Amino acid sequence: MFIKRGLSLALVSIFLYMLSNSALAASKEAEAAKKKELNNECVGCHINVNPGIVRQFLDSPMSNPPEKVDAVVCTDCHGEDHETADDYKNAEMPTPETCGECHEDQVDQLREGKHNLAWFAMKSQIAWHGQPGSISQEGYRGCSGCHKIGQKGLKGIMQGVTGEIEHDDGEEQENYRYGNVQCDACHTRHTFNKSEAQDPRACSNCHMGFDHPQWEMYMSNKHGVIWDIEGNKNVRGRAPTCQYCHMSEGNHAVKTSWGFLGLRIPTKHNVLALAEQNPSLKEPLEKLAKLLPEGNYIDVDDDPEWVLDRALIFQAAGILDANLQPTERFIEIVVQGKAAHAPDDFNENRVIMKETCNECHSKHFVDVHFKASDEIIKAADHEFAKAIKTVQGLYKDGILRTPPEWKYAPDLLQYYDAKTKVEQELYLILLEYRQRAFQGAFHGSNDYMHWYGWAPLKTAVATILEESRKMRAEHEAKHAK
Ligand code: HEC
Ligand code: HEC
Ligand code: HEC
Ligand code: HEC
Ligand code: HEC
Ligand code: HEC
Ligand code: HEC
Ligand code: HEC
Repeated sequence: MFIKRGLSLALVSIFLYMLSNSALAASKEAEAAKKKELNNECVGCHINVNPGIVRQFLDSPMSNPPEKVDAVVCTDCHGEDHETADDYKNAEMPTPETCGECHEDQVDQLREGKHNLAWFAMKSQIAWHGQPGSISQEGYRGCSGCHKIGQKGLKGIMQGVTGEIEHDDGEEQENYRYGNVQCDACHTRHTFNKSEAQDPRACSNCHMGFDHPQWEMYMSNKHGVIWDIEGNKNVRGRAPTCQYCHMSEGNHAVKTSWGFLGLRIPTKHNVLALAEQNPSLKEPLEKLAKLLPEGNYIDVDDDPEWVLDRALIFQAAGILDANLQPTERFIEIVVQGKAAHAPDDFNENRVIMKETCNECHSKHFVDVHFKASDEIIKAADHEFAKAIKTVQGLYKDGILRTPPEWKYAPDLLQYYDAKTKVEQELYLILLEYRQRAFQGAFHGSNDYMHWYGWAPLKTAVATILEESRKMRAEHEAKHAK
């Protein structure tokens, strides 16, 4: 009796389960059919409106996935709210989070990496704020055309001498209908394929030119030359590509030790050692040291002279003030924008990079190459510091006067808005010559390192010293009258 009832109960529940399951399946099927129909409409109309987009998408990997995986359709990225020729403003434009529904890893890596900070870093520059509207608005000309690889809406929050980054929940993004997806910098729409992004040419539209000619340097070093001669093999070729070195194991974070500027944060003991040697600077340096990280840099030697040279560069960029204390720019550019690293990050990125080289070169060969490149930065810093000291002297002695709208002087971050010949030269040393010298060294492009980098750097320093002598002589002559 008991058993019988139990059995029939079990049968009933199995029956009910099957019924609900098939109802679920039926409703799922109906939903899928509806989705398919809707997308046929998108495709049917857009094949006339923008045939190129439709053709590219229908031929793309996402439209033709492996068996058992559902094909991606227009509405997965653009939503379902636009259906006619008139209401197209209701179409949604994707962000990385749209892609992240199916590609979580890549989005997480991008978010914690350097590309994600590109928009924030751009906006941290005074030069950006003085630009014509076409550069800063939706049209994405100039700075913003390259920097839209970064996330919009990142805001720096100051907390005393440190700070954090917060997101504004989409406020800034509302002013930009297009250009918020970031991923399409390398996987262009509507093909979105992997092989395009694995080709070094996919990086070349941004990593080129005046202050970061990595593409030109790659094409003029042995790696790029072999890549080109041997038929542009992007995977398993003899020569590494940009991605091989900078996105090892497909990691989307792209980080390097020295970064764009070739600067590092001095450590506590570096600064104390400098104070030891310069009693006149003891007080401000000890105060500064309290805020700095502990630890040691692997590979790079930190003699006090180099620490002082770098301090002068930071000072001329308004990152340290006249008294060698960190400014709001230190927080925005270094702490939040991560333009210079502390030992932890520096060392971690270096170890990963060297291991990548070791896949094809011996450890010792690689050490020698890195040491030589690090020393180029050191030598360039020393020349640069000489020039900075000279211009600082002109301000100190009243030969140059701080323009009323400037907070710091000299100010490297005024870029090409600098007012005098000597400061224009300083700007060129920062963004063109020093960059090319050290970036060319790491990328093994000897011509960039030497003739486009080191040589004009030396010329510029000589020009600054000569100009400064003339300015002093003129000043004295005027005051002697
Ligand atoms: C009856 C025709 C028609 C249908 C159906 C249609 N669209 Fe459109 N869509 C248009 C037109 C017209 C435009 C405006 C094109 C232009 O600006 O050149 C447009 C624009 C767009 C845009 C760009 C919006 C912008 O601001 O630039 C997207 C994205 C889009 N459609 C996606 C879709 C999706 C997804 C579907 C299906 C759910 C769909 N469309 C269905 C006609 C259609
Ligand atoms: C609804 C899920 C979904 C969304 C949303 C989505 N993808 Fe995909 N994606 C896929 C599937 C499925 C594949 C094919 C998987 C495979 O080949 O194993 C794929 C493959 C890819 C590939 C590799 C293509 C190749 O050549 O092998 C790239 C790159 C890619 N997607 C980028 C994007 C980007 C960028 C976005 C956002 C703009 C995005 N995806 C949004 C599901 C999605
Ligand atoms: C051709 C594309 C392009 C243009 C135009 C461009 N940038 Fe950049 N910018 C880059 C690239 C690429 C990098 C990274 C280079 C590197 O790390 O060597 C970069 C780096 C930077 C950095 C350093 C970020 C850091 O944390 O180290 C700042 C700041 C910056 N750009 C601001 C600007 C401003 C302001 C403008 C316009 C006045 C501008 N950029 C124009 C591509 C561009
Ligand atoms: C994997 C995501 C994805 C899918 C699927 C997708 N799009 Fe897009 N679409 C994008 C991205 C990303 C943009 C660029 C948005 C921006 O600039 O911010 C875009 C932009 C557009 C635009 C306007 C920009 C331009 O280049 O003219 C149109 C029109 C458009 N899509 C139509 C379609 C149609 C039609 C389909 C289906 C055949 C489709 N899209 C499928 C991601 C997608
Ligand atoms: C700086 C260029 C760049 C950007 C930006 C970029 N990718 Fe990639 N992506 C690559 C490269 C290179 C690969 C190939 C990596 C490898 O396997 O070596 C790749 C591979 C992929 C793959 C295939 C992974 C696999 O295992 O086959 C997907 C999916 C993908 N990316 C999605 C995205 C998404 C989503 C975004 C935005 C959040 C994005 N990518 C942004 C360069 C980029
Ligand atoms: C053989 C490996 C290798 C290849 C190939 C390579 N890089 Fe690099 N890259 C490096 C090394 C090493 C550094 C310096 C790392 C450090 O800071 O210690 C670097 C630094 C960088 C930086 C930071 C600023 C600088 O130039 O020093 C950027 C940006 C960059 N590379 C982009 C690229 C791009 C884009 C390509 C392809 C056109 C490329 N790299 C090719 C190894 C490589
Ligand atoms: C749409 C323009 C654009 C494209 C395409 C692009 N990048 Fe970048 N990249 C930037 C900008 C802008 C920055 C500076 C971001 C910052 O530092 O705030 C940057 C920074 C970097 C850095 C970080 C250097 C550092 O400071 O440590 C590396 C490495 C890098 N990119 C490699 C690549 C590689 C490799 C590719 C191609 C697969 C690529 N990028 C494609 C614009 C681009
Ligand atoms: C995928 C293999 C591969 C990787 C990874 C690689 N290289 Fe190379 N490299 C080569 C090949 C092949 C050559 C040309 C033959 C030779 O000189 O060994 C070369 C040449 C060089 C040269 C010129 C040698 C000369 O005698 O003129 C230097 C310097 C160099 N590589 C440094 C590096 C550094 C530093 C790294 C890492 C940042 C690196 N390579 C990563 C394959 C690689």
